[in-house]
Amino acid sequence: FSAATPYATLPSVLLVGPSGAGKTALLTLFERGPFAANPGSPEKLDAVAKTHTSQVPATIELAVSTDPSAASYRADLDAAGATAKKFLLVDTPGHPKLRGHALAHLSSTAPTVPTNTSSSSSSSPTQSKLKALIFLVDSAALSDPDSGALASTASYLYDVLLALQLRFHRRSGSRAPASVPVLVAANKTDLFTALPAALVRSQLEAELGRIRKSRSKGLLDSGVGADDVDAAAGGAGGEEADGWLGGYGTEKFSFKEMMEFDVEVEVLGGNVLGEGPGAEKWWKWIGERV
Ligand code: GTP
Ligand code: MG
Repeated sequence: FSAATPYATLPSVLLVGPSGAGKTALLTLFERGPFAANPGSPEKLDAVAKTHTSQVPATIELAVSTDPSAASYRADLDAAGATAKKFLLVDTPGHPKLRGHALAHLSSTAPTVPTNTSSSSSSSPTQSKLKALIFLVDSAALSDPDSGALASTASYLYDVLLALQLRFHRRSGSRAPASVPVLVAANKTDLFTALPAALVRSQLEAELGRIRKSRSKGLLDSGVGADDVDAAAGGAGGEEADGWLGGYGTEKFSFKEMMEFDVEVEVLGGNVLGEGPGAEKWWKWIGERV
C-alpha cells in the first residue's frame, strides 16, 4: 500500500506493539477491507498475509461511520458520505531499535503530534491530534513461556503506559495534551494456542507489576538521583516522575490504576487472519474515540 499524505486537521490513532504482533496486517485489513468475508479472493488475502517487518512508520487515512448501525470497517463509507469521521491510522515498527518513532509521539510536549516522522524535524508542519492508542499483542506467543514474549511485550507496554503517565503530569493550563485511551488488542485468537483476552490481561498486569518492582529497585541500586529522573521527565517533580507505573502503595499492578492519570486501558480479543471474532470490536472502539 502507499502511505497517504497526512492532513493537518485529522485526528490520529497510533498502532504500536512488539514486532510480529500483526500491526501492519491490521492496518492493511482496515485499508483493503473484507478479505475475511471473501475467502475466495486470494488477492485480498495476500494483501494482508504478505507483510514484512516494518522499518518506518506508515500512515493511512480511514473513515468511520458516525452511524452505529454501520459501524464496520466493511461498511461502504462513500454511501455514508458526510456522516463519516476521517482519521489517520499510524503504523509503527515494533523492533526494539525502532520504537523511538512510537514513543516520540507520546512524549511530545505539544498538544498535537507530528505524523510525518520520516522528517527528523519535530516542528513538522503536519500535526495531528492523537486520539487513541492501540497496543497490539500476539496472544499465541504470550502462551508460550519459553518464547520470552510475555516479558518483552510487557516491557514495551510499560514504556508506552509510562510515557502516557508522564504526559498526564506535564499537563498545565489550557495547553494540556488530551489523555489518550489505550486498547490492548489481543490478536491472533484464531490460533488454538492463543490466550483468551482475560488471561492476556491478567498475565500482562502481573508482568507489569514485576517490571515495576525490578525497575524501582534498579533505580535505587544504580544510585540514580531523583533529580536526574525529574529532569528526564520534564521537571514534573517528586514521586510522580520516578518511573513507577501506576498508583503508589499497591503491590500488584492493575490497568485500573492508570485511571489516576486519566488513561483508560481496555483489553479486547480479536484476529486479523483466520476464523474468529475478527477486528470489528477494535474498529468500534476506535470509532467511539476519534
Ligand atoms: P513489525 O512490523 O515487525 O513491528 O510487525 P507487525 O506488528 O507489523 O506484524 P505483521 O503485521 O507484519 O504480522 C506478523 C505476522 O503475523 C504476519 O505473518 C501476519 O500474517 C501474521 N498475523 C497477523 N495477524 C494475524 C492473526 O490474526 N492470526 C494469525 N494466525 N496470524 C496473524
Ligand atoms: Mg509492521
